[in-house]
Amino acid sequence: MRRINPQRVSDTICKEAGRTRPDRRCPGRPPTVSRCIDTDFRQEMAGDVLSGLTGSVKSIPCKYLYDAYGSRLFDRICTLTEYYPTRTEIAILEGNASRIMDFFSGRDGSLVEIGSGSDLKIRSLLRGLSGQGAGQVLYVPVDISETSLLRSAHRLLDDFPWLSIQALVADFTRHIDRLPEGRKLIAFFGGTFGNFTHEQGVALLQGFARIMGGHDRMLLGIDMLKPAGIIEAAYNDRSGVTAEFNRNILKHVNRRLSADFRPDDFEHLAFFNPDREQVEMHLKARSRVRAYIAEVGLSVCLEPEETILTEISRKFSRARATACFDEAGLVPVRWFTDADAWYSLVELAARA
Ligand code: AVJ
Repeated sequence: MRRINPQRVSDTICKEAGRTRPDRRCPGRPPTVSRCIDTDFRQEMAGDVLSGLTGSVKSIPCKYLYDAYGSRLFDRICTLTEYYPTRTEIAILEGNASRIMDFFSGRDGSLVEIGSGSDLKIRSLLRGLSGQGAGQVLYVPVDISETSLLRSAHRLLDDFPWLSIQALVADFTRHIDRLPEGRKLIAFFGGTFGNFTHEQGVALLQGFARIMGGHDRMLLGIDMLKPAGIIEAAYNDRSGVTAEFNRNILKHVNRRLSADFRPDDFEHLAFFNPDREQVEMHLKARSRVRAYIAEVGLSVCLEPEETILTEISRKFSRARATACFDEAGLVPVRWFTDADAWYSLVELAARA
């Protein structure tokens, strides 16, 4: 599947030429796209929402926070002063890009990015590739949104015209076996790992460990334990973007499953649970709430103050993270972190 890139020199010239003649497209290869989304999204959401809202504790899986509007709100969250994870992760990437990208020195390989939302983070890494001595890099972004995959692929090619891109439209919890063969560095940024329970997280990492060869590496972003006040501020921003993001999950359910939730009936609630070392984000009913979800024929009734859990976001100590990795058959090779140790990028290898 791997394809050889044309020489970088001519691509650089091509890019220069493109600059002086803006309507002449650089003849670099367009990204290829493979799709492995098999299930019907509405069907899946119907099943998830039905089981989430009929249990004794009500919940809606956090992946449904990300419809088009939710994804835009999340991008705004990433720029908020209170929300430290994104800028901290990017700073760590900027400061360590060339060390991380040593993986490709003199060797070909794939740079896989799991759940590649925006292209900001991968850009920091690609800039760390030393032009001289770097092997050919195949970039494989994996995301469920084909639109966002294509948008960032084209933007990346504008700045890194020598890059080969094979986008994969896939659900990373189900299609790990579809990743390219051969050496690879699998980047899983954003702390999304923390949105899974311990059991789910271990199962996910086990899936990666299973397909990783001895020389493959994973680069996993995790948010670290820190004083609760700092964590809670990040999920309760003063401008209310996170609250809007949280309530939007109901608008998403309304639209896809013909439900009649009124988001304003709910209060945004996010707090750090010290026993579980996780942030819990809920929607709390301001009064007695009734809603009907037509697509699944379900009436939901919430007592005043009753909540719907919409997200957990785990915060790790090195010890707890390492225990998780160990259970999944992975070993930390290097830890990249910021001066306050608020966030970590862990380089992992499969246990021999
Ligand atoms: C980046 C998806 C992991 O848990 O911090 C941001 C999502 N939720 N504000 C996180 C999120 C509320 C975020 N993830």
